[in-house]
Amino acid sequence: MPHRCLPTKQDLARVFLIIFASVALVATGCGSDDQTDNDESANANVEENAGHGDDVGVDDAGGDNTGEVEDTGNGDQDDVGVDDVGPEDVGDDDVGVDAGDDAGLTCDEGLLACGEECVDTDDDNLHCGECFNACDGDLQCFDGACGCDGELEVCSDNQCVDTSSNFDHCGECDEPCEGTQVCNDSTCQDDCDSGLEECSGACVDTDTSDDHCGDCGEACDGDLQCSGGSCGCESGLDVCNENQCVDFMNDDDHCGECGEACDGDLQCSDGSCECADGLDVCNENQCVDFMNDDDHCGDCNESCDGAGETCVDGQCEGGSDETSFADDVVPIFSACTGCHGGSGGLTLSSDPYGNLVDVEAGCDGNTRVIPGDPDESYLVRKLEGGPDICGGQMPQGGTLPSEDIDTIRQWIDEGALDN
Ligand code: HEC
Repeated sequence: MPHRCLPTKQDLARVFLIIFASVALVATGCGSDDQTDNDESANANVEENAGHGDDVGVDDAGGDNTGEVEDTGNGDQDDVGVDDVGPEDVGDDDVGVDAGDDAGLTCDEGLLACGEECVDTDDDNLHCGECFNACDGDLQCFDGACGCDGELEVCSDNQCVDTSSNFDHCGECDEPCEGTQVCNDSTCQDDCDSGLEECSGACVDTDTSDDHCGDCGEACDGDLQCSGGSCGCESGLDVCNENQCVDFMNDDDHCGECGEACDGDLQCSDGSCECADGLDVCNENQCVDFMNDDDHCGDCNESCDGAGETCVDGQCEGGSDETSFADDVVPIFSACTGCHGGSGGLTLSSDPYGNLVDVEAGCDGNTRVIPGDPDESYLVRKLEGGPDICGGQMPQGGTLPSEDIDTIRQWIDEGALDN
């Protein structure tokens, strides 16, 4: 550890970070030091690490801090904070795992029930590899293990560090540069190579550095990446919500443009919300198969609602056949024959067919039943109470249930057959 008498800006920044991190860990009680040694096997083997691996990490952190801590006089607090966290955490983890096992939640394939939620332990930072195994610090969950992204290395305090240009971890973790040196391509030296810019002791290419894009400290956040000195999305992707990179061609939340979400059954395809191949859109966002959808048979909202009907090749089939005069219509006339046994000019008690179909009504210019034309058939108009009828609505003193009128209409519509 180099000895420095005055704290530099970096020192102060680091001390603040450490204090903040410690406070946050203690406050939430959920920071786990299990992965402090951070190789991929650490997670596979949490039991072993609990209580042992921890200590290594904690000591590391403490040792690392000591140099700066002496400068500022805050060392004791830091150490206490860090030490406190370890044991508490192990307890939390155990409780968490139990809760996960007990939850009666059913999750989709590939997901695990952790407490009240279903998670993918492959990439869930709070449940990495197993329930309630949270990734600490900068670490993220990759394939069920907490680690750092890409080329970054895990240094003490679960920091993800680019050791090629980090003043405190130059070349490798915990190898700080001294004084006014800079970390250039993993080596401490006096100045940055040409083409690189010094940002707080790190030599970076501001054309491509995500942390110093275009200028020191100008970090690209969210999905954005630094290219040519400005933060943007990979080619082919567009920026939505300031820092999200999306593919307008197939993003269900941003289809064709930012914020255009495909709702219901619709999915984004080539930049527009559509139904999967072979399906049609009904009611704005439903995707249906006209060939076999009982509610949309052959067309939207054409339902097969007859008893026993189903949609086959776009047609409703299998229900009751065409209306039968003898079986469906004549029984309705039982409500009429009390009067129409001979009175009222209409006889329905015998040969109802012969007395109705193509027979002129007593009311001039009307025909009782015109095959194929229920609206013009006088029988229907008498039953419905209009239009243009002589006398009153039938049956006198009441009305027929509408299903019965529908049956008579249907029979006439189908050609008023004597069937
Ligand atoms: C309470 C007695 C009564 C009942 C029940 C009754 N009708 Fe009538 N119906 C009459 C009378 C009376 C007339 C003649 C006066 C008129 O047209 O309103 C008549 C006329 C008609 C006419 C017109 C005939 C024509 O050629 O002008 C039709 C059609 C008719 N009834 C159908 C029916 C049907 C169908 C029912 C049963 C659902 C029925 N009626 C029940 C008494 C009745």
